Amino acid sequence: MNIAVFSTKGYDRRFLETANQSHGHAIDYFEPRLTAQTMPLAEGYDVVCAFVNDHLNADVLHHLAENGTKMIALRSAGFNNVDLAVADELGLTVARVPAYSPYAVAEHTIGLIMTLNRRINRAYNRVREGNFALDGLMGFVLRGKTAGLVGTGQIGAATAEILLGMGCEVIATDPYPNDELISKGLRYVELDELFAESDIISLHCPLTQESRYMINERAINEMKPGVMLINTSRGALLDTAAVIEGLKNEKIGFLGLDVYEEEENLFFQDLSDQVIRDDVFARLLTFPNVVITGHQAFFTEEALTTIANTTLENISAYEQGGPVPNTVTSERVVSG
Ligand code: NAI
Repeated sequence: MNIAVFSTKGYDRRFLETANQSHGHAIDYFEPRLTAQTMPLAEGYDVVCAFVNDHLNADVLHHLAENGTKMIALRSAGFNNVDLAVADELGLTVARVPAYSPYAVAEHTIGLIMTLNRRINRAYNRVREGNFALDGLMGFVLRGKTAGLVGTGQIGAATAEILLGMGCEVIATDPYPNDELISKGLRYVELDELFAESDIISLHCPLTQESRYMINERAINEMKPGVMLINTSRGALLDTAAVIEGLKNEKIGFLGLDVYEEEENLFFQDLSDQVIRDDVFARLLTFPNVVITGHQAFFTEEALTTIANTTLENISAYEQGGPVPNTVTSERVVSG
């Protein structure tokens, strides 16, 4: 099949080229994100291969379908950036990579928790400047603290196992409870109970109409004073303005983010010699108790290998006319 890969970085190309040795597809790589402006680049390609910040809205999908595209191969687990109802209507097959390394994201989540708690970001800078004072670096022992996980799918479950191993009390909400986690000591509770009981809250659910802005002013008011909030899932799970208020009035004691609602204009590029025009993001950077990484939680050798292999396997299955694994439609999500 001929494939147009959007939002290509050097590492995407390297891993896809390696994986393609056993598939033999004709792949062209485009650096820009897929948007209404760049969609003409996809004309004539059977498959459009997209990542998290590519636009697959109604306009773009119509243009793709009218110009020969039959399949959207997502290099991500999340598919909130695709208008699935329109994709279904146009007969476009949409496939994703359901689990490329839940451990990569879970371990990064723990990295954010540890960095915030023991102020490793601040300590790193101080020591480099010959400042060995400890004031302002005090942390707390994680053992015995309550961690609340919103979502115990692949990533939430992997995070739960690490936190249980560290001696935390782990509570969670998920419409589909995981019995194995219950047997290991995790307790499912209602969302308001999770907000009220948790010392650390970490989000691992997908972004949907229902979950958008689940962390809003009302939710923050229900939380413990000084709560640690971690989001490695999708930016719009948080109402960022409400979170900034929570940081200013010190209700939120720590904030760790790997995702941001307006990340598409910032993340995955070097903007170090430019002015950041997003005042909300710039405000977040001013807090000493906020650590932000640029959507790197997945970014491991293992995850990139799986992303490349699964993406090309999905495409090859489509080419062979068999059932395409990992498809998503507006009605159902097929895993595996
Ligand atoms: P998954 O599909 O295995 O698990 C999601 C879980 O959330 C499911 O068990 C589902 O029942 C539950 N859920 C759905 N709505 C919920 C709600 N309103 N409240 C509580 N639970 C709810 O997905 P996985 O692989 O664990 O990924 C989770 C999210 O992590 C993805 O949707 C994606 O947005 C994000 N992600 C972030 C990455 C990064 O690099 N930062 C990389 C990969 C995924």
